[in-house]
Amino acid sequence: MKRISIFVSGNGTNLQRIADYFHDNPEVEIVNVVCNNPKAYAIERAKNLGIPLRMITRKEFNSQAFTEEMAALRCDLIVLAGFLWKIPSGLIQAYPQQIINIHPALLPKYGGKGFYGAHVHEAVVAAKEAFSGITIHYVNEVYDSGEIIFQAKVALEEGETPDSLAAKIHGLEQKHFPEVIERILFNENA
Ligand code: GAR
Repeated sequence: MKRISIFVSGNGTNLQRIADYFHDNPEVEIVNVVCNNPKAYAIERAKNLGIPLRMITRKEFNSQAFTEEMAALRCDLIVLAGFLWKIPSGLIQAYPQQIINIHPALLPKYGGKGFYGAHVHEAVVAAKEAFSGITIHYVNEVYDSGEIIFQAKVALEEGETPDSLAAKIHGLEQKHFPEVIERILFNENA
């Protein structure tokens, strides 16, 4: 049995997709959803999916107690699915090369603090980039700079807007993220 924890801050479309993808797989269990935002729609999704929900404050999140709580869950993988806080180094050390993040651009471009969600797409469109995409990477102590596991790209078209680009990126996330998680969990080349 492989055990996953999923961290969320927002809508939770990736959480939903991952949960749906593994729903019929007895080898994979989502042990909890960790959420830092009381207004996140992801909370409803976790409840509807019947997954234990752990709401956290910033103080708790950065505490040794939370790291110990997560370590005790003995997860195989922690998945950041639209989670916007920096991961404390204690948690990274408790889960070396076992925390992954999805970023809605082709890192190393358009990454780092402040580059999340719509801000990323606005910057990519403003710079008239020919391509954008998604990056799935391991999490280290510096925002968006851990080892890249997987990228998929998509072309920007004439008249592309941040919203239309967001929809394309969303499609890439839905298509690839669960499969990449599965390959990591079962040690296949991602
Ligand atoms: C996703 O597009 C994800 O790539 C992005 O937040 C969105 C969350 O959507 N993550 C980042 O920007 C991280 N820097 P969701 O809550 O619907 O899954």
